[in-house]
Order: sequence, then C-alpha cells, then structure tokens
Amino acid sequence: MSIEWNQESREFHLRNDRVSYVLRVLENGWLGHLYFGSPLTEGRSYAHLVPGEFLGYSNRVGEPVPFEYPSGGSGDFRIPAVAIELPDGSGVLDLRYASHRTLPGKPVIPGLPSTYVEVGGEAETLEITLSDAVAQIEVRLLYTIYRDRPLIVRGARIANAGQAPLILRSAMSASLDLPDSEWQLISLSGDWARERHVVRQGLRPGRQSVSSLRGSSSAQHNPFVALARPATTEDAGEAIGICLAYSGNFLAETEVEPFGTARVRAGINPEGFSWLLEPGAEFATPEAVLAFSATGLDELSHAYHDLLRERMARGSWRDKLRPIVINNWEATYFDFDEPKLLAIATAAKEMGIEMFVLDDGWFGRRDDDSSSLGDWTVNTAKLPGGIESVARKVEALGMRFGIWIEPEMVSRRSDLFAKHPDWAIGVPSRPKTESRNQYVLDMSRPEVVDYLFDALSAILGSAPISYVKWDMNRNITEPFSPTLPAWRQGEFFHRYILGVYALYDRLTEAFPGILFESCASGGARFDAGMLAFAPQGWTSDNTDAVERLKIQWGTSMVYPLSSMAAHVSAVPNHQVGRITPLETRAAVAFFGAFGYELDPTKLSADETAEVAQQVAFYKKWRELFQRGRFHRLISPFEDDRDVTAWMTVAVDARSAVVGYYSILNRPNSGPTRLKLRGLDPATSYRVSIWTAAVGDENDESPSPIVLGGDVLMAAGLVIEGLRLSSTQGDFRARVYVLESI
Ligand code: DGJ
Repeated sequence: MSIEWNQESREFHLRNDRVSYVLRVLENGWLGHLYFGSPLTEGRSYAHLVPGEFLGYSNRVGEPVPFEYPSGGSGDFRIPAVAIELPDGSGVLDLRYASHRTLPGKPVIPGLPSTYVEVGGEAETLEITLSDAVAQIEVRLLYTIYRDRPLIVRGARIANAGQAPLILRSAMSASLDLPDSEWQLISLSGDWARERHVVRQGLRPGRQSVSSLRGSSSAQHNPFVALARPATTEDAGEAIGICLAYSGNFLAETEVEPFGTARVRAGINPEGFSWLLEPGAEFATPEAVLAFSATGLDELSHAYHDLLRERMARGSWRDKLRPIVINNWEATYFDFDEPKLLAIATAAKEMGIEMFVLDDGWFGRRDDDSSSLGDWTVNTAKLPGGIESVARKVEALGMRFGIWIEPEMVSRRSDLFAKHPDWAIGVPSRPKTESRNQYVLDMSRPEVVDYLFDALSAILGSAPISYVKWDMNRNITEPFSPTLPAWRQGEFFHRYILGVYALYDRLTEAFPGILFESCASGGARFDAGMLAFAPQGWTSDNTDAVERLKIQWGTSMVYPLSSMAAHVSAVPNHQVGRITPLETRAAVAFFGAFGYELDPTKLSADETAEVAQQVAFYKKWRELFQRGRFHRLISPFEDDRDVTAWMTVAVDARSAVVGYYSILNRPNSGPTRLKLRGLDPATSYRVSIWTAAVGDENDESPSPIVLGGDVLMAAGLVIEGLRLSSTQGDFRARVYVLESI
C-alpha cells in the first residue's frame, strides 16, 4: 500500500496489490481524475491518460475534462459534486489545488458512521485541499486506501473560509469520471417485502439515478450502485461499486455526455437539501466506499463483505457468531401474555434455539398498531411481572432474551404525544400525515434524543436484555423542524439522521453487550451506515423461501451474510400465502443470521424433530454461514430456469455448503451440473447431501462421494434427483456439504 506524490508530473497514485487510483493536478490547478482500476506500476507517470488537448484550456466549455470533484458554472455542464450559493447569490465555483498531506490510518467523521482502522499500518489517507480564492471556500477531499482491500474510501469536507455565510446546495461524497460509458448500472431496488432486487441496465446518454427522499435509505432503492461491463458476470469482468455509508436521503447518479464518457456521483440527495455554512464552519459528507474488481461481481461483493463486517461493524458483536433467534411476531402479533411467550420460548429451547426476541406490543397500552409508540414502559396488563420477569424466566430456560423497539416514532394515542405534540414532525399550519397510525419524532432535536436515551436506557437496564431489534415503520412526511429557522429547513433530513446516529451511538456505548439489529418495515434501512451500530439487519418482512432467494441474493451484492437476519416462518406464508417445504425454508434461511419466526408450539412432532435438526446443522456450520466466502452461482433474476444456487466456502477452503433451489418443478428435466467456486482445486472433498426432512420419502440421501475441488469447479457438481419425478413438486431445495478429506 502506498500513496505516491510525483512532484514533477503533479500526480497522486494510491496503490495496493488490488487497485490503483490516480489523480493529477492539471496545469491550471484543477484536480483531474486519471484512473481507477487494476493496480499499475509505482513510480511512473500516467499523465497521458488525460488527453493533452483537454488540458490547460482557459475555456473548457463542453470538453469532457475528467474532474475529481466537479463544480458547476464555469463550463462543465455535467452533474456537479458540489454546489454552493455564494453571498451574492451566484453559484460559480472554481476549485484549484492548494495543498495535500498524507495521514496514517483514517480520520473519523464527526457524527457519521465510517470505516476505521484498528492496527497500525492498515491504511493511509490522502487529504487534498482545493480552494476557490474568490468564493473563499476550501474543500478537503479524503481518500483512504487499505493495505489489502480493493477499494478506496472517499469523503469531502467543505469549509467556509470567508466572512459571510454560504449555503451548501449539494455536497457529494464522491464523483468519478470514467473515460467510457460501456457500462451497465446495477442497483438494488424494490419495495416493502421485495427489497434489493437486482436491476441491471445499460448506461445511456443523459442521467440515470437511484435515490431516496423518504428520510431513510429505503426499500425502494439502496444506497449502492455498481457499474459492470455488459459481459461482466459473477466471476469475470470489470465492475466498480459505490456504497454509501448513509441511512438518510441519498442520490447515486450517472451521466453519459456526448463524447461518451461517464460520470457517477453519490452522496446526500441534493433535492430539498441545503446547509448553512457560517464563516469558519465545515460540512462533512458521509463516506463512499469505491470498490473495483477485474474478476466479476463476486469479488466486488467480497470486498464489501469483508470491509463492512470487519471495519464498519464495531463493538463486542462484530467478531462474535450470532445466536439462533426465535421471534414471536408472526407467532402472536400483538396477542400475547407471559405464559404464551414462555411456552414459545420453552418449545424453542427444546429445539436448541438460543435467543428469544419479544417483538412489538410489550409497552404502553399497545394491543394493535394504533397506540403507545413513545411510551417505553411495560404493558403490565400483558406482562404483569414486567420485562424483567419474562427476561429472567427466558434466561432460566438457558436462552438469552431480546426486545423490539421503535424509538423514532410516536403514536397519536400515546402519553408522549399528549405531552409533547410538537416533537412529532410536521408543518404547524398543515395536518400531519399519519402512516401506520404513527408520526415520526423530530430526531434533529437534542431533547428528543435525550428523552429516548433515558427511556430506552431504563428499559434496557431493567432486565437481562441481550438483543434489541430497532424498527422504523414509516417514512417522513411534512419535513420541518420548528427549532430551525426558515433558511435552515433544508438541513432537516440530514439533521434527522444525525440524531438517529447519535441515539444509536449513545445506546450502543451504554449497552456494549447488546446485539443490535436494525429494521425498518423489514429491510427499508438496510445500509452500510446502519451496520456501524447494528451489525445485522432484518432483511425483509417477506420470509417466503422463494421470495427470499431474490432478496438475499440482491442483499449479498454488498452486505455480508452475518448482517442478513433470515428466519424460517410458518406456512402458508404470511406475506404471499405460499406453501413451501420446511426444509426449503431452512435451506434458504441458513445463509445468513438464522432464526425462526413462527409458533413452535404449533409444530407437529415431525416438524419439531426437523427444526431441531436444522438448528443442530446450523450450529455445526454457523461459522461458514455467517463468515464464509459467499458465491452466487445461479441467479434468481436471470432466464427462466426456475433455479437458484449459491454457496459459502470457509476462509481456508476446507469446507463449503451449497444451496441449490428448484422453484417450479420441470417435467423430465434431467440431471444438471452446477459449477462451484472458491474451492481448493487440489483438495478432495467429501460431498454429502444434508437433509433434516423427517418422513419425506423424496429425500433419500445418497451416500457421500469424494470429488476434487478441480472437478467440482471445472466440470461441476452433478445435481440429480431433485426435479426428476412428479412427486418432487415445487419449491425443493438441496443442501450439499463439502468437507475436505
Ligand atoms: C415491522 C418489522 O419488520 C416486523 O418484523 C415487526 O417487527 C413489525 N414491524 C412490528 O410492528
């Protein structure tokens, strides 16, 4: 890893064995972008990569000069990285190189989640200062390169060095100018119950974007995009990823201009955003993680998985294997009392489940979703002994106990709303829109964050609570805070999320032993920013095994298996009404932080035995399922094969588990070969089929066979017997276990 400054050619070269990132101070002081991709040799100049005729123009109108942090108003008509309203109302900026320095490690971003270093020499940071002497603005661009990761972490700090206030209209975390536009844009888009479906489409002239204006990163679009060559597959071809560590309104956008170059920018959504910069003040953008792979999307995902798991997640749970959870939501919804909960916990414990999580409905007078959010005291009508009694009884069973909270919300029917109606977000002159019978609290107000910290600390400190599921079930409407003057209302959304981060920060500090799981109506705020506080998230409310194939596949583009909570639920499935075999439900949910979302007291004896075997199997391979190298093999989004396959391989490649899923059965479809990845070609593996199905004559497991890693990867694993007969039916799954011998 090195950060080179070539004084003569005025070039910066950030490099490790996986990537190079090259910048150049152009003749007139603009900062140009030369290259991001596979590593280039050190000590050489790459100045020729920016064609000479574009350099040094005093008039750059229309020319595609590759800028590192572009601004508008002086001839670059493409999408800018930064836009500022100056005291005279103009918005013309001319940012030129002023200085630079390199720093060991990586600076923190005050108030925002960010990746970090833990050991000396792990990363270095380049800080380049640009300034505009007329506007009296300084922009510090930060680039961190880790020793052995194929990525560059970027962010910007924008400071007012003048005497009059300025208004920041847009401040991107990163902008990247690419010399051609032969790329496809990959985004993770969807909605409630179908989060992070992979969408891939070619870049075309003009702009394409994904974004959120909902106050959270959203189920509709995830704050991540990748650019992949049209021929790029999971295991071949170039891809560039941009992942934002931000949970609020974001934008990720591309622009192809007439010369065929492409610009991509990502950061806080400029729509509706503004930030008053007083003299001397500085604004810090969230950070963007840029990753590069020359060998397909799998490799890009691995770069993100490792970074987010090892250097974004923090706290005691970062390195611990996650417990197997039973959550009572779909088992009881709001209708429970202590005996019912304990019956669920007892049955779950007998099957080997380790953590009981009490979901919504334990507080205030909440018997449905129409009341009590904000009143974080126990509902003694349901739980006369309080949380402490249930928690202690669950612990006495030999399980851990967790609870659900939704801190950012207030119900109209609640004591909190009666006392502080002004804490609910809204424009005073307008009616407030209710959604799920609730309003959103104004998290930009420190007194709201203080109240929540005190109220939640009281609960979390009152009982042996080991796990918190932090939900967020509606988006923000009528965005406005009475605490901000009119000219600062554009700061509201960003201040909201800073308040959420502040509360998360304080609670995770105060309760370091608790495992936090983020949730937002399922996976509507599943982003890298959240992972800094909650190392796992509820991936989706949709627990149907077939739907989950798409959701987990898409989520795995960026987020590690350890972060994806995946539960087996009852059938008919509560979201889509589909009936899938219990075995298939587990075979999908295994690939994540595993658990159950059903009433175990209602299972038959065979099902109980099957669940116990699933739990035992997951425990045996937990390390692989949570921390193995995940490879996506057959996509649920492509062609009409009705098959999906993926696998996870141990870091030392000594073992692997493969999931193969047949969605709709095909008559007479014959055996097929599945090419595996990530194995050691020289190792022999014992390949066995795992099944927990009790009394299912379809699943006669053949005896294990021994095959080389080479043949499994080059020729493939022969999949037989899954789709051959009419008795197999739909929604079948196979789990293959590979152990080196
Ligand atoms: C939405 C979550 O995604 C569900 O799992 C559940 O916790 C409900 N909220 C409770 O209201």
